[in-house]
Amino acid sequence: MRFPERFSQLPDYAFPRLRSLLDAHAPGGDVIHMTIGEPRHDPPPFVGAVLAEALDGFGRYPANDGTAALREAICGWVGRRYGVALDPQSQVMALNGTREGLFNAAVALCPEAGGRPPVVLTPNPFYQVYAVAALAMGAEPVYVPATRETGFLPDYAGLPTDLLDRTEIAYLCSPANPQGAVADEEYLRDLLALAERHDFRVFADECYSEVYDADPPPGALAVAAAAGADPERLLVFNSLSKRSNLPGLRSGFVAGGPRSMARIRQLRAYAGAPLPEPLQEVAARAWADEAHVDASRAIYRRKYAVAAEVFDGIDGCGPPEAGFFLWLPVEDGEAAALRLWQATGVRVLPGAYLSRDTATGNPGNGYIRVAMVATEREVQRGLLAVRDCLYG
Ligand SMILES: Cc1ncc(COP(=O)(O)O)c(C=O)c1O
Repeated sequence: MRFPERFSQLPDYAFPRLRSLLDAHAPGGDVIHMTIGEPRHDPPPFVGAVLAEALDGFGRYPANDGTAALREAICGWVGRRYGVALDPQSQVMALNGTREGLFNAAVALCPEAGGRPPVVLTPNPFYQVYAVAALAMGAEPVYVPATRETGFLPDYAGLPTDLLDRTEIAYLCSPANPQGAVADEEYLRDLLALAERHDFRVFADECYSEVYDADPPPGALAVAAAAGADPERLLVFNSLSKRSNLPGLRSGFVAGGPRSMARIRQLRAYAGAPLPEPLQEVAARAWADEAHVDASRAIYRRKYAVAAEVFDGIDGCGPPEAGFFLWLPVEDGEAAALRLWQATGVRVLPGAYLSRDTATGNPGNGYIRVAMVATEREVQRGLLAVRDCLYG
């Protein structure tokens, strides 16, 4: 029996690795989970009522591309948030969460290899599905450091020309998981221009766009529209998981140029796993409502303030620009996560579980990722324990 070789370079996923690292050891105190990016604020109050009203939809196969109501609600949100008018028929599709979308859009849009394998660019560290999508397509994933020196965003423009010429897809995560960096308008404009010059697509993962402190992060759709960029260059992914505290709903969307979207739609008609209709109704309602998002953001703002206070004066440890992770510098991320667990019971993720070795080293080695998803009090307890244990 043969198995595919193309996934053989994948390490185990971050969370089983963490269990192997920590679970043989007793926690040093009451356990506080600060590992997974699963929001624990309340979901919107209307979820139960909308779902109850829509139950008969479980008796039907759901619309593959999303119901008209959901696509219109998404376009309404994009219009209010970014001032961009999208056509709900041809420029937006419902996803079963963005993770599958980030994967399946690559399946639909990554061209076949010519002489040499196509290149897929991913920031390093990164959300792990980007690499799996590249490997599934027989592409060469190129892990581009997103470090303190590069403003925690990948410097794609600094890559060699021949590599950029082989590039088909560049993933960008802004606000970035795990570093919390935000690509400004200039960065996004330059990236779209680079994509135009070297003929590749940008897959902009904007899942954390609504978790911020002062100013809303710019969106790639708005920058592309203002710059008059070819709409086929850009696919934008967003989700209700973080915005609306609904990771279990599995609802997101992809928006992009009509020709690219038609390819994605065609593939999904064969092999997609559409979101059940009642869940699409909940999703439509959630995109149309900002009150619950404002309420959740207010809680994150307080957590940012807690992080600022706890880590005051400690270099590189302030709150993020956006998103709900702290990306904290330590000497060795695995050793720090183990020490913290054994001394305090706080569980955090070693940075290297989110990054890859490259010729210039592994940019996650000297970091831990700390998710500020628990209650404010628990986050405060956790952060104080992190500070006292690792920076005391
Ligand atoms: C950067 C990033 N992109 C995408 C996702 C996937 O989100 P979902 O599939 O829940 O929409 C996550 C989830 O943690 C994430 O951190």
